[in-house]
Amino acid sequence: MKYNRCGKSGLLISAISLGLWHNFGNASVLSNQKEMVLEAFNLGITNFDLANNYGPPPGSAEENFGRILHEELLSHRDEMLVSTKAGYYMWPGPYGDWGSRKYLLSSLDQSLKRMKLDYVDIFYSHRPDLNTPIEETMGALDTVVKQGKALYVGISNYTVEQTLEASKILKRLGTPCLIHQPKYSMFNRWIEAGLQDVLDSEGIGSIAFCPLAQGQLTNKYFDGIPKDSRVETSGVFLKEDDITENKVNIARKLNDIAVERGQSLAQMALTWVLRKNRVTSALIGASRVSQIIENVEALKKLDFSDNELLSIDEILAHEN
Ligand SMILES: NC(=O)c1ccc[n+]([C@@H]2O[C@H](COP(=O)([O-])OP(=O)(O)OC[C@H]3O[C@@H](n4cnc5c(N)ncnc54)[C@H](OP(=O)(O)O)[C@@H]3O)[C@@H](O)[C@H]2O)c1
Repeated sequence: MKYNRCGKSGLLISAISLGLWHNFGNASVLSNQKEMVLEAFNLGITNFDLANNYGPPPGSAEENFGRILHEELLSHRDEMLVSTKAGYYMWPGPYGDWGSRKYLLSSLDQSLKRMKLDYVDIFYSHRPDLNTPIEETMGALDTVVKQGKALYVGISNYTVEQTLEASKILKRLGTPCLIHQPKYSMFNRWIEAGLQDVLDSEGIGSIAFCPLAQGQLTNKYFDGIPKDSRVETSGVFLKEDDITENKVNIARKLNDIAVERGQSLAQMALTWVLRKNRVTSALIGASRVSQIIENVEALKKLDFSDNELLSIDEILAHEN
């Protein structure tokens, strides 16, 4: 495993992190969840990314991860980063959603109870809230660190301007923003238009979510939609309609470059996200152990030639 420094902090994060958004709720087999978490840790993945609402049902991914941690990995707690977030709908009424101090502080208390932990390593504001002063949301992040309930804080899905504002406030409060968690992959390059420069200048690290575009940047959909794919097993955030002929054709062309590099398409997609050290960690999801093994192997070939990058850009120019 490779460990990258997160922004200008003292914290090193594994270049690949494991996210528990899908396949870790109560609807998924616990023994498979356990195997995936244990194999990830064995391969050197230190960062496990959760959120209050991961499941289904919401909260169950934290409960299941807490159970696995306590049964199998407790003696390794200090070798791991446990991350969680609040910002999306979690409970009814005005205090279970968005970015108020009331919501963030009570949500983290609930997350800690579900995972049976005293603290998390990283606590995120999961999304910006235009109806709450950003000072209030950042103040809540500062409070959780001062309470000892989180070691570091981060933000997710914040725009360039919101990131700059959040960072200035957090610096003033004495709790610098450790990390930004944006969506980033060959199919979604929005962070290249300004956010990466702001993160560099503010000394903030980044962890790219959905680096495989939920499986679209793998060879998975080359021959139709498999029964055991996310489109079939969940179908909520990745639907049949998303698997267009154009997307599959582009993925096939990218796959040709990956094969020439001696990688699978999934491996090249992860390497691409991590290229030139501009992203601290690629945050993958997985439905089975073999995917985690394959994805971590990507780190064996991290360099790209200028020609390869140019060819990838040309192929992606036909994406819509
Ligand atoms: N901050 C936010 O707002 C936000 C939003 C979304 C996600 N996230 C975080 O990002 C994490 C990752 O998101 P994601 O799961 O969408 O990431 P992803 O890595 O883009 O997609 C993961 C999915 O791709 C398939 N896959 C993975 N490796 C493969 C391989 N080698 N070959 C073939 N298929 C492979 C699997 O789907 P199959 O089921 O089809 O096998 C797997 O579940 C989440 O768990 C969460 O922690 C954060």
